[in-house]
Amino acid sequence: MLETIKQTADYLKGKIGEIPNTAIILGTGLGELANEIEEKNEIPYTEIPNFPVSTVEGHSGKLIIGTLGGKKVLAMQGRFHYYEGYNMQEVTFPIRVFQALGIEYLFVSNAAGGMNSSFDVGDIMLIEDHINFFPEHPLRGKNFEELGTRFPDMSAAYDKELRQMAMDIAKEKNIKLQHGVYVGVQGPTFETPAEYNFFRIMGGDAVGMSTVPEVIVANHAKMRVLAFSIITDLGVLGKIVEVSHEEVQEAAKIAQPMMAEIMRTIIQRV
Ligand code: HPA
Repeated sequence: MLETIKQTADYLKGKIGEIPNTAIILGTGLGELANEIEEKNEIPYTEIPNFPVSTVEGHSGKLIIGTLGGKKVLAMQGRFHYYEGYNMQEVTFPIRVFQALGIEYLFVSNAAGGMNSSFDVGDIMLIEDHINFFPEHPLRGKNFEELGTRFPDMSAAYDKELRQMAMDIAKEKNIKLQHGVYVGVQGPTFETPAEYNFFRIMGGDAVGMSTVPEVIVANHAKMRVLAFSIITDLGVLGKIVEVSHEEVQEAAKIAQPMMAEIMRTIIQRV
């Protein structure tokens, strides 16, 4: 594993030049934030040694190196989902490569179903914490001390200072920002009404099929993480309607400009 990570990191070092301190994972419907990245160099995942290849519609699959808000960043357009059949090592492989490159900050976005009754479709939720409801843990198995400790702390998986910055930025820019707990599930089914209710009672505000594995590995790697969900549908009893992948993508577009504004600003400031 260590050799594979090093090989990929070395390949990218040869392509990137000066290594940025920030990486972004652009989730469902948020790929357009990539259009705001300037002076960019794009590397399709298919060209990156050892990188899994994304298969889902709407996830185009490339690494983008460029500047966002004047700051050099590395962005993943398209991520690897557990439901696609990748194992946890594959899902989180890019994070290991970021670690090997010396990336310090990880910004993540995703689409999620909102279970908090004060949420609306199109809201942005700052993730304050998560509940790992995946059936497999990305750190299961041999621990490489070079990568991180056997029993990582998760008391502030989403960096407190970055969360405060995000809240301040949202306030400054008059952007409505919800906050709450993200429940990570494997999918690919959306939830039944009983499951949404269960996750709500369990302490969740939003539920989605990504992010948690990457954030766990980023914490293992001691990166500072900030993540947002775009609420694309509601899992609130009485408000649950049929939902499709296309509707999720459409709803994510509503919040996209605001999400981009928050991301751009915070990246400028770190
Ligand atoms: N559930 C799980 N994942 C999701 C949802 C949802 O309601 N919406 C977008 N991704």
